[in-house]
Amino acid sequence: MTTTTDRSQPPSHSPHLLRWVEKTAELTRPAAIHWVDGSEEEHAELCSQMVESGTFIKLNQDLWPGCYYARSDASDVARVESRTFVCSLSKVNAGPTNNWEDPFTMRHKLKALFQGSMAGRTMYVLPFCMGPVGSPMAQYGIELTDSPYVVVNMRIMARIGAGVLETLRRDGKRVVPCLHSVGAPLAPGQKDVPWPCNPTKYIVHFPETREIWSYGSGYGGNALLGKKCFALRIASNMARDEGWLAEHMLIVGIEDPKGEKTYLAAAFPSSCGKTNLAMLVPPKGMEGWKVSTVGDDIAWIKPDENGRLRAINPEAGFFGVAPGTSVKTNPNAMATLQRNTIFTNVALTPEGGVWWEGMTEEPPAECLDWEGKKWTPEIGRETGALAAHPNSRFTAPASQCPVIDPDWENPNGVPISAFVFGGRRANTTPLVYQAFNWSAGVYAGATMGSETTAAATGAVGRVRRDPMAMLPFCGYNIGDYFRHWITMQHSLSETPRIFRVNWFRKDAQGKFLWPGFAENLRILRWMIDRVHGRALGKETPIGWMPRYDDIEWKGLDYPREKFDHLQAFDREAWHGEVMEHEEWLMGLRDHLPPEIIYERELLICRLQVPNQPGTGAQ
Ligand code: OXD
Ligand code: MN
Repeated sequence: MTTTTDRSQPPSHSPHLLRWVEKTAELTRPAAIHWVDGSEEEHAELCSQMVESGTFIKLNQDLWPGCYYARSDASDVARVESRTFVCSLSKVNAGPTNNWEDPFTMRHKLKALFQGSMAGRTMYVLPFCMGPVGSPMAQYGIELTDSPYVVVNMRIMARIGAGVLETLRRDGKRVVPCLHSVGAPLAPGQKDVPWPCNPTKYIVHFPETREIWSYGSGYGGNALLGKKCFALRIASNMARDEGWLAEHMLIVGIEDPKGEKTYLAAAFPSSCGKTNLAMLVPPKGMEGWKVSTVGDDIAWIKPDENGRLRAINPEAGFFGVAPGTSVKTNPNAMATLQRNTIFTNVALTPEGGVWWEGMTEEPPAECLDWEGKKWTPEIGRETGALAAHPNSRFTAPASQCPVIDPDWENPNGVPISAFVFGGRRANTTPLVYQAFNWSAGVYAGATMGSETTAAATGAVGRVRRDPMAMLPFCGYNIGDYFRHWITMQHSLSETPRIFRVNWFRKDAQGKFLWPGFAENLRILRWMIDRVHGRALGKETPIGWMPRYDDIEWKGLDYPREKFDHLQAFDREAWHGEVMEHEEWLMGLRDHLPPEIIYERELLICRLQVPNQPGTGAQ
């Protein structure tokens, strides 16, 4: 006998939660309510329902078992920073880098938008946990959403369902309420579209009440509210209040041939290779080394009782950028996404598979592009059309990663020995340098410049300051965030080393100087040796740099002169850089911690032309 679960009935829970669900339903008027239990059976039902509605295409199951394909609306393809708000009680607390609106006014606006916004749809009640369930560092949320696409993606990206609800009921944890609607109500009898959304978009955070409201988009960080909205914008507020860090960082474990393991956390702006670095395969000549992945996007980092920083990955999956991912650039990601993966906005091949630029050298003779139009290599050449959108994604379970770290779900996290800050700069920033100390490292992170990518809507390739890769994700005043970083050191018995990297420096012909990918392990090795006091470095005005002979070159023929070019410190360019730092930092006014001002002054002093006191940037 088979039993069907009635998911319209609320499980027994706090009257508070039941009342919130009821009140939201009164506002948004869904046709049905579904309490998500996270089971396989429920997942299968939602997927077949989406295949029927046209949101999903089931991929060829012989080639791609458990995989589905989705195309978003052409207007809903990335995070919309211009429509993302931090509505703290005072504007000053949101700071100059966030859009702000008075919370009372914003609630009023949102209530009007959400009024009847789920009509004709099902409202899913999705309990989720960021971090291993039961971990002292985990945090809990409930997302009310009218998007089944969001439910199945969140099932990969977070721990969801009945087990989470039970933990909440038992342990009485605080819950972050997250309300999401695609903003596309259906009139009776109206046929749905494959990707419902609304041209009006609002992604809103209320940091004091720890609430998230998202309207109008079904894509990625706009809609999977556990990710950027909770794990970064709301969590950064929690972290500031409670003495920890919520960062846009990958976490990677590196074991040397003798078995010594070191964990690093590295911040890079969106679409700058965090997933590749987190899953790196050692290059030729470094075969005895092992790299393991704890996380590829977000790290929650807290001092333990001994004053040592430990980090967890709050997520359970990877929402990775597809273009450029291949068996050459990231074989571990390719192995991860072979099954149980959702692909969004990549190209669909005639045999029911997926393809994206860079996946294979030879493109398919023909496919359907991310908008469902016929694409051939000739069409691509003639029109410049891409088969996959540059921000197309795979949503894949972290547990499927062949190099997932044995401790990736350790409730107490892994110990962090170093932080790496990396931007995308064609010039100025050398491949690697180590900051002189903690405050110089915070300065290096705080002033990081990077070229914009397709992960957010807007111009691509424009240099902007992206402090600690948190510009779009810090949920409070960025000056206070720097202060928080500075003061974190006071609670540490051991200070992690801080490094700056730039894998993207180019030569005069516009060609990348550094091969990147696997070869980056050579640079991480120098960092690890510095951490353990084993490697030398050369002092320069911006920090410690490796000399050619400090790097492991076995297996790579990389000329000394090219390395010198890559590491070149260009005093003139740095004068310009420091001027840009000033422009950026001065906008933070009295929220700027004094240490950052002193670090800038020290840097200016070090930039003086040797033997010519009084010259240089002032
Ligand atoms: C992401 C991003 O999706 O940073 O991780 O945009
Ligand atoms: Mn990211």
